[in-house]
Amino acid sequence: MINPVHPEAGAASFSDNEFERLAAFANRSFGLKLSPAKKPLVYSRISKRLIALKIDSLNNYIDLVEKGNQGDERLELISALTTNVTAFFRENHHFDTVRKEIIPTIAARAGNQKRVRFWSAGCSSGEEPYSLAMTLLEYLQSASSLDLKILATDIDPKVVQRARQGEYRKENLDQLPAGYLAKYFRKVGSDDSYSVSPEIRRIVTFGELNLIETLPIKGPFDAIFCRNVAIYFDMETQQKVWNNFADLLLPGGHLFIGHSERLTGPALNTLKITGVTTYRKNGLPLSGWSNT
Ligand SMILES: C[S@@+](CC[C@H](N)C(=O)[O-])C[C@H]1O[C@@H](n2cnc3c(N)ncnc32)[C@H](O)[C@@H]1O
Repeated sequence: MINPVHPEAGAASFSDNEFERLAAFANRSFGLKLSPAKKPLVYSRISKRLIALKIDSLNNYIDLVEKGNQGDERLELISALTTNVTAFFRENHHFDTVRKEIIPTIAARAGNQKRVRFWSAGCSSGEEPYSLAMTLLEYLQSASSLDLKILATDIDPKVVQRARQGEYRKENLDQLPAGYLAKYFRKVGSDDSYSVSPEIRRIVTFGELNLIETLPIKGPFDAIFCRNVAIYFDMETQQKVWNNFADLLLPGGHLFIGHSERLTGPALNTLKITGVTTYRKNGLPLSGWSNT
């Protein structure tokens, strides 16, 4: 018989030892930091997996994911332990910085350097990279003559799939600046859903990527958005991630992080704060970068 592992049963149904074991696994595998304060939240989310799999204890569940022969269950676990909350033009001041500082720099060097790269790291269901794409197409006059790409990645395959699909309900599109809905979306059938236009899709590439593993990415990037992602990581993991970003940015490139995050550690030797949760890499923006 299955133990009564129901969310209503209260957090006490996971022993502290079990919770610590799960926290250690999540830290090792995904860099996640599950403090004891998160126990009720984790409990309510993982209980659903135990019920779905007919598993009667957290220890047995951890055995299953540790064995690794249930590949999909690790992905379910990531989905259960992270939150995918996002929105179009969330923390809009970063898009203002793109418009006022980054776009003029790109426009000024366009003759020498056609390669322009952005990265939305931890892109969730796509609202962040698509907001960036709209900002670039709206304000970067020379966009069509540039080799312009936005890489958008997330650890959670389910949200990457939704992001690729690029379909959103009307109520999630209310934050769009005036005129963007008509310009950058197409209505889907008779439903109240809208699909991202082909010109936006053309410049955004999605992929699955765990930021705490060795990154198969060379860059360099003009700017990296990694907002409301590192908040889940322990300090050591955060500092590794910031350092990787510092290496992958162009001189003068920007890093945008989430409203409750801040940079610490060695990355601060090369990245200086220039605005609210906005950092810039030392050095002048190159005028003749030729890497492809
Ligand atoms: C709260 S959402 C943030 C979405 C978007 N950046 C924003 O600010 O609106 C956090 C995202 O980080 C992703 N994430 C968590 N751990 C990750 C990891 N180790 N590597 C890559 N993405 C991760 C989650 O799957 C989730 O989609």
